[in-house]
Amino acid sequence: MDTAPAPFIPPAPKPRSTPPSTLQMIRIVYRNPLELWGEPSYNQPWISVSGIGGPLVIANDPGLIRHVLVDNARNYKMAAVRQKILRPILRDGLLTAEGEVWRRSRKAMAPVFTPRHIFGFGQPMLKRTLEFVERYEGETGTVDIARDMTTLTYEILAETLFSGEIAGEPGSFGRQVDHLFETMGRVDPLDLLRAPDWLPRITRIRGRKTMAYFRKIVSDTMTMRKERLEHEPDTVPQDFLTLLLRAEGPDGLARAEIEDNIITFIGAGHETTARALGWTIYCLAEASWERAPIEAEIDAVLAREPDPTKWLDAMPLTRAAFEEALRLYPPAPSINREAIETDRYQDLEIRKGSQVLVMPWTVHRHRKLWDQPEAFIPARFHPGNREKIDRYQYLPFGAGPRVCIGASFAMQEAIIALAILLSRFRFDTVAETKPWPVQKLTTQPQGGLPMRVTRRG
Ligand code: HEM
Repeated sequence: MDTAPAPFIPPAPKPRSTPPSTLQMIRIVYRNPLELWGEPSYNQPWISVSGIGGPLVIANDPGLIRHVLVDNARNYKMAAVRQKILRPILRDGLLTAEGEVWRRSRKAMAPVFTPRHIFGFGQPMLKRTLEFVERYEGETGTVDIARDMTTLTYEILAETLFSGEIAGEPGSFGRQVDHLFETMGRVDPLDLLRAPDWLPRITRIRGRKTMAYFRKIVSDTMTMRKERLEHEPDTVPQDFLTLLLRAEGPDGLARAEIEDNIITFIGAGHETTARALGWTIYCLAEASWERAPIEAEIDAVLAREPDPTKWLDAMPLTRAAFEEALRLYPPAPSINREAIETDRYQDLEIRKGSQVLVMPWTVHRHRKLWDQPEAFIPARFHPGNREKIDRYQYLPFGAGPRVCIGASFAMQEAIIALAILLSRFRFDTVAETKPWPVQKLTTQPQGGLPMRVTRRG
């Protein structure tokens, strides 16, 4: 008799059975775009419609995704709606730069993300995680794992970016980061309607002052470090800031671009990983039968391998749980492009100016691509199964020339964090743990992730 427990089905909006009216749509976009998608979005290889903002193609088919993001990537630019949200914050940072600026910046930044440098960040990641978990020692109450993971990944990022050498009063930088992304990083319904720029976006107005202050701290921090690089080059920390400043020059990055990229790393590089960590811990708490083999794996590896950069390869079960959480709750739920010229894929015509949405959210939950798509089943990603997943049906980090430059950084960081957290503590849900996935800048758990933390015996 099969006694394996039924897999855990974590919370998610049910596909809509009827399309929303225009008014409902605006309301849903404002509240939670994940609630927009109907049955066809989870069943069809692609959907081509005339949306209120012009022609729209939802691309779910791995072949079509490859066509748009890789094979004919030159024909697709960043979608105007995404740029309107992100460009005022990130300007010419890598995520929002286009054309020649993007090409030059990506080339100049590639050396910063080589395995050698990522491995170099292993110890700072471990150090910050060990400091962070101290706060759970003796903890008997409930903590909000969603908030705590954002704190942890922010602290790791601040360490790997600046080694703690940030201008201004301590703590203020972190507070500004929170505020900035809360107020600026929202999809405004006016953007979706392609309303003209002079119409003020209520969702963003409040962030402007914060942004000016935030940019000043980044700029002062750069100046401080440049002086150190000049006067004490031998003792300067080998962090992102030093690596980026070394990439400054006529063929590399301009000073303003370095500033934009620091802000981009902060924007793209901590909340994303934090969300995935939070959802992983939550799913493992609910699917508690998945937890024992992962804990055993972590305990065995930590007992024999002190080098944290080796853990990612040494912990396939832990990695699989994280990858499964990235499937169910992709931190970047939508990758948006716009067709520069009319294009064709099989019998699909993609007209010039069409929005093309490659949505990890629907692709990862697609009925034709996955068995039990809504269920949390880490075994899909165990060695032997992992290889059967098409490269273009699993896209937490995107694909093609604009694939996430921080993917290896994030994977290494996540496994170090999970290894330390799960080796020492058990995380259990409580009556109030009722997260609901909401698409803001990332896929957030509305209601947070209140959980009980206890020391493992
Ligand atoms: C779990 C964590 C992460 C996820 C799920 C994620 C996801 C993504 C995705 C889907 C894209 C492609 C966007 C597109 O094609 O439109 C992207 C791009 C990018 N990511 Fe990440 N990311 C993560 C962590 C990081 C980290 C840690 C950093 C930096 C330290 C980072 C920096 C960037 C940058 C700079 C780009 C733009 C690359 C380009 O356009 O050339 N990300 N990320």
